[in-house]
Amino acid sequence: MATRSKSSKAWLSEHVNDHYVHRAQKDGYRARAAYKLLEINEKDQLIKEGTVLADLGSAPGSWSQVAAKLAGGSGEVFALDILPMDPLPGVSFIQGDFREETVLAEFESLLGNRDLDLVICDMAPNMSGNAVTDQARSFYLCELALDFARSRLKNGGSFLVKVFQGAGYQEYLAAMRETFATVQTRKPDASRGRSSEIYLLGKNKR
Ligand SMILES: C[S@@+](CC[C@H](N)C(=O)[O-])C[C@H]1O[C@@H](n2cnc3c(N)ncnc32)[C@H](O)[C@@H]1O
Repeated sequence: MATRSKSSKAWLSEHVNDHYVHRAQKDGYRARAAYKLLEINEKDQLIKEGTVLADLGSAPGSWSQVAAKLAGGSGEVFALDILPMDPLPGVSFIQGDFREETVLAEFESLLGNRDLDLVICDMAPNMSGNAVTDQARSFYLCELALDFARSRLKNGGSFLVKVFQGAGYQEYLAAMRETFATVQTRKPDASRGRSSEIYLLGKNKR
């Protein structure tokens, strides 16, 4: 029974992923992750014409593609990844490791004195295979992203971040609740197969 349910989960995961991979190719998105942001945005209206936002962990660029399109000519998208990312119209990108202070400083200077409406973070470390280490590395990136959001979001701004449920989740949720008036979870269809991945959405930064 356990084996059957495991294999049907694997089937569902593959099927869902395949569906979104094909759709992304057809729609011209660089990754199926585009549909996660589109679905969340449909519900929460985070990005609209004029939105100024930062996209952390942006490569290959599907969230930036979605964000730049929705923010339009009067919006601005600032993106960062440790990996290179091919240029996108309407997106200012720097390549660097978000854990390094020099990289953060470079990103800050790109932003200048702008206050952000929104920070979106889809960062995920390279998985080592050691679940404890991977979970800790992932939450470290999320904590850095939350610090960044705290210092750069305008009052009333929002923060969308990918987390993995498990060790550290409750503490992170509590830290989000200190900063945002409301904190909600989002699990878009396109992330269905990826078991412990969930998005936290903090709205209305205090
Ligand atoms: C799931 S992917 C993001 C996909 C992206 N949202 C999209 O739609 O194309 C996670 C990204 O986090 C990036 N990342 C991981 N560790 C990082 C770090 N320390 N600094 C910056 N980016 C990092 C990875 O290089 C990877 O591109």
